[in-house]
Amino acid sequence: MELEYRDFYGEYYEDLLFAQTEVMDFLMGKMSKGSKSFEHCYSRVKRPASMIEKLRMRNLPIEPETAVLQITDAVGVRVICSFLEEVYGIADEIRGYGWEIYKCKDYIAHPKGNGYRSYHMVVMVTTPRELEIPVEIQIRTIAQDAWANLEHQMKYKKEIKDTALIQRELKRCADEIASTDISMQTIRELIMEAALE
Ligand code: GTP
Ligand code: MG
Repeated sequence: MELEYRDFYGEYYEDLLFAQTEVMDFLMGKMSKGSKSFEHCYSRVKRPASMIEKLRMRNLPIEPETAVLQITDAVGVRVICSFLEEVYGIADEIRGYGWEIYKCKDYIAHPKGNGYRSYHMVVMVTTPRELEIPVEIQIRTIAQDAWANLEHQMKYKKEIKDTALIQRELKRCADEIASTDISMQTIRELIMEAALE
């Protein structure tokens, strides 16, 4: 497995691992300090096969330099939160850390047509040999994460019969989740207010 990654990314694999570790260390540090600011996080380096597919789709040269510098999710990180407020809280902390923010998309305030919700950021991490590696960070609630995983499964099952029905049901679930996430956030605030009295 490791060999497969090195075969494709070559010397750039070290840069990817550096960037991945830098972002994960930052997040783990947030976890250990006092109040919990999210539920859990995980990361991956994009598998060579899916990277090659993405480069092909974009008519880009199939080479590691292009993969690492022009595709913004060679390194991907997911931060899963219990509450909406934590999503925006961790986004603020990432913003405050000092990495250059290359891109930021709030798909919670502006959901995609299919119902997809998440907060996306691409930060630029400088590696020891001065390469700027983009790292895509997706921040979402537990419920948004479950939904995205389910929707992703559907996309990859090509033989599905009634896609229209499934898409409609997914959209309905996405909207129910959104309203439940807001209710949970509100209840949490009520509990915190009550605790202050
Ligand atoms: P690429 O998706 O990398 O081509 O770049 P982009 O600028 O279009 O980024 P976007 O923010 O739209 O999506 C980046 C990533 O978010 C994707 O690779 C997925 O992991 C996730 N994502 C975006 N849209 C959806 C969606 O509709 N469903 C699911 N399950 N994941 C999505
Ligand atoms: Mg996209």
